[in-house]
Amino acid sequence: MKLSLKFFAKAPGKIIITGEHFVVHGSLAVAAAIDKGALVEAEAFEDIEIVSKALGSFSSKKGEVPLSLKPTLEAIRATLEFIGEKKGVKVIIDSDLPVSSGLGSSSAVAVATVTATSSALNHELSPEEIVNLAMISERITHGKPSGIDVNVAVYGGVILFKMGEKPKQIELNKDVEFLVCHSGIERRTSEMISKFSKMKKSYPNLFTSLVSSSSYFTEMAASALVNKDLTTLGYIMNFFHAVLSNLGMSTKELDHIVEKTLESGCIGAKLTGAGGGGCIIALPKSGEARIVAELLKRKGIDASIVKLPLEGVKVWREKI
Ligand code: MEV
Repeated sequence: MKLSLKFFAKAPGKIIITGEHFVVHGSLAVAAAIDKGALVEAEAFEDIEIVSKALGSFSSKKGEVPLSLKPTLEAIRATLEFIGEKKGVKVIIDSDLPVSSGLGSSSAVAVATVTATSSALNHELSPEEIVNLAMISERITHGKPSGIDVNVAVYGGVILFKMGEKPKQIELNKDVEFLVCHSGIERRTSEMISKFSKMKKSYPNLFTSLVSSSSYFTEMAASALVNKDLTTLGYIMNFFHAVLSNLGMSTKELDHIVEKTLESGCIGAKLTGAGGGGCIIALPKSGEARIVAELLKRKGIDASIVKLPLEGVKVWREKI
């Protein structure tokens, strides 16, 4: 029996702890890798072939790429061109991240695809190169993203991010647990980004001061995370939710879940990612994540526990 060499790359999804939307306009933001993500299997091939349960299939031998796979295909083409490879690749994409839910599903797929593709063709990319190639896919999906999702999928951990700069790792002195609750409502990040950006035209001065406040509170949140100062962190999360909600980024379902998590004993809660549906994150008191998750379940809200920090993209090979 002939064994073939396959390469696997796993990239995590993310939560944004502070600064979403403002980050697109130059604010600092904090994001963290989570324990769900995308797994991509790749092998050298004569053409380009993509197989995904969620996104459909494509073969460069047979016609049109479905819209859902265009970002992935462009990232693969750019990767092949970048590494100077004439051969193709076959990739099989799997993910346990819900799509269009604010948990960085498209970035995890892009990062894992770029990493697995280059590895299958014997080329090791630097983290910066993976970010740049995955951003090709992200720009097709989201228009003008800041790059925070891709950076956290590559570097993992908890990052302090500013658009156009290399992220800084926030080293936690102790683990911190968050709850992630999904509203079950899907939305398009690109639409939320342009809705938010309209505010800049209507209220330029207010907008500028909110971007500065977002940076200021993000720096405070970063040191609160380092020192596990949950009271300060919770306060900042509540501030961000109130502001984002006032700016039309929340929904009544998200506000309802935020309220229930606070009622159940969490110190802070906020929408995470683009909003308009998707997920919220909540900060339980130390050691109470499991109890609060149980309480929420009784109120009909599913909460998963995420213990930070978690790692970024990983690659390995197997003989199959
Ligand atoms: C999306 O996960 C986060 C946003 O800030 C957009 C971005 O930064 O690209 C809404």
